Amino acid sequence: MDSHNRDPQKRPLFSSRLSIITVAAGSAIGLGNIWKFPYITGKNGGAAFIIVYLCCIALIGLPVLISDFIIGRRGGGSVVSSFRALAGERSPWLFGGFIALFGSATVLSFYGVVAGWSLEYVVKAASNAFSGKTPAEVGTMFNDFVTSPVAPIVCQLVFMSITAGVVYAGVKKGIEAFSKVMMPVLVGIIVLLCFRSITLPGAEGGLAFLFKPDFSKLSAAGVLDALGHAFFTLSLGVGTMITYGSYIDKDEHLAATAVQICIADTVIALLAGIAIFPAVFAFGVAPGQGPGLVFVTLPNIFAQMPGGYVFCILFFLLLAVAALTSSISMLEVSVAYASEDLGISRQRATLVLATLISLVGVVCSLSMGKYQEQLTFFGKNVFDLADFAVSNVEMPIGGAISVLFVGWMLKRRKAEDELTCHGNITVPFVGAFVFTAKYLAPVAIAIVFLHSLGLI
Ligand code: TRP
Repeated sequence: MDSHNRDPQKRPLFSSRLSIITVAAGSAIGLGNIWKFPYITGKNGGAAFIIVYLCCIALIGLPVLISDFIIGRRGGGSVVSSFRALAGERSPWLFGGFIALFGSATVLSFYGVVAGWSLEYVVKAASNAFSGKTPAEVGTMFNDFVTSPVAPIVCQLVFMSITAGVVYAGVKKGIEAFSKVMMPVLVGIIVLLCFRSITLPGAEGGLAFLFKPDFSKLSAAGVLDALGHAFFTLSLGVGTMITYGSYIDKDEHLAATAVQICIADTVIALLAGIAIFPAVFAFGVAPGQGPGLVFVTLPNIFAQMPGGYVFCILFFLLLAVAALTSSISMLEVSVAYASEDLGISRQRATLVLATLISLVGVVCSLSMGKYQEQLTFFGKNVFDLADFAVSNVEMPIGGAISVLFVGWMLKRRKAEDELTCHGNITVPFVGAFVFTAKYLAPVAIAIVFLHSLGLI
C-alpha cells in the first residue's frame, strides 16, 4: 500500500534543488503576489497586516506545503494516485484527490481571465493608452474592457494557449525549462520597478505604510484575509504542490525546499508592495483601493511618472509572466491525472483539458458583462462564484485534508521517514510539524472556513 511506485524510467523528476524551487516558486508567485497581496495589504492598513500574514505563512502555510510535498513524493503519482498509493484503493481519502482536481481546474478558469487582462494591459501600456487620462477615465476604461464580450475573451484564450503550450511540452522540457527562463526575468523586472518607486520624491510614506505597524488598523477580518491569502499565494489545497511534489527526487530535503519556497514567495510579495506603495504615496493616492489598485490606480500613476511609459509596460509584463508560471502549475494537476490515471497521452490530455477549462473561463468572463443577468446565481456572477467556491470552500477543505492526512493517516513515523529521506538526513522540528499538522493547522483552517461562509 505504502508503495513508492515511481519508475524513474517513466516518471519525470525535476533536475536539481534549484529547479524545484524555481518551478514551485513559479507556481506560488503569481497574481496573488502582485495583484492581490498589495491590495489586501492596502485595504487592511499595511505593516500590521503584513506581520500577521508572515505568521500565517510560517505557522500554517509552511506545514501545509510540507504536507503536500510529503503526499506527492511518497505517493509518487498524480494527486489522485498519490492518495490512492498511500491510503488504499477505496479509501475515503481519495476524495481529497478528486476535490483537488476540481479545484485546480476551477481556479484556472477564472485565473486565466484575469491573466488575460494583464496581456491586454501590456498592449495598452505600449500604445500609451493611459497618458493624459484622469483616474475616472482609466477606471471607465478598465470597466469597459472587462465587461466587453469579445476583447477579454480573446486575451484569455491567448493566455490559455501559451499555458497549454508549456504543459504540452512536458514536465522538464516545458514547465521546468520555461520557469528557468521566466523566473529570472520576473525578478529582474520587479527589482527595477522597486528602484523606480523608492527613488520618487515622497516615497517614504509608502515605505512607512509597509513597514511601520499600526495594530489599531487591524481587524479580525484582516487576520482571516491573511490566512486565506497564505493558502492562495502558496498554491495550496488544490493538488498543485502534491503534483509537483511527485516530481521531486527522493533524496531532496523536503522541509528545507519548502522553507525556501515560502521565503521566495514572501520576498516577491514584499517587493511588489515596495514597487507599488511608495509610488501610490508619492502621488497622493489612497492605498486602500481594492482590486482596482493594479489595473486602475497604477496605470494612472505611471502616466504621471518620469519614465512611466516603460515602467508601465514592464509592470504588466511582470504580471503576465508571474501568472503564466502559476497557470501551468494549475493545468498540470489535471493533465498529470488524465495522462497517468486515465491513460490518455499527455498531449491529448493537455489539449482537451485546456479547452474545457478555457470554455468555463469564457463563461466567467461573460458573466461580468453583457450576460451578467443570465449568468448570476445565488447573487453572484459565475466569475465571483468560481472564485468563492475555490478560494473560500475548496482550498480550505483541500488544505485541511492534506494536513489531516499527514498528521493522522501517515502519522509521525512515516512523515519523519519521508522528511529525513529514510533517516539519511537530520531534520529539526519534526515533532512541531506533526503537532501543527494534527491540530493547529486544521483548527485554524476550520475557523477561516466557517468565517468565510458567514457561520462565525
Ligand atoms: N499561488 C498563485 C498566486 O499567488 C496562484 C496559484 C497557482 C494557485 N496555483 C494555484 C492558487 C493553486 C490556488 C491554487 O497567484
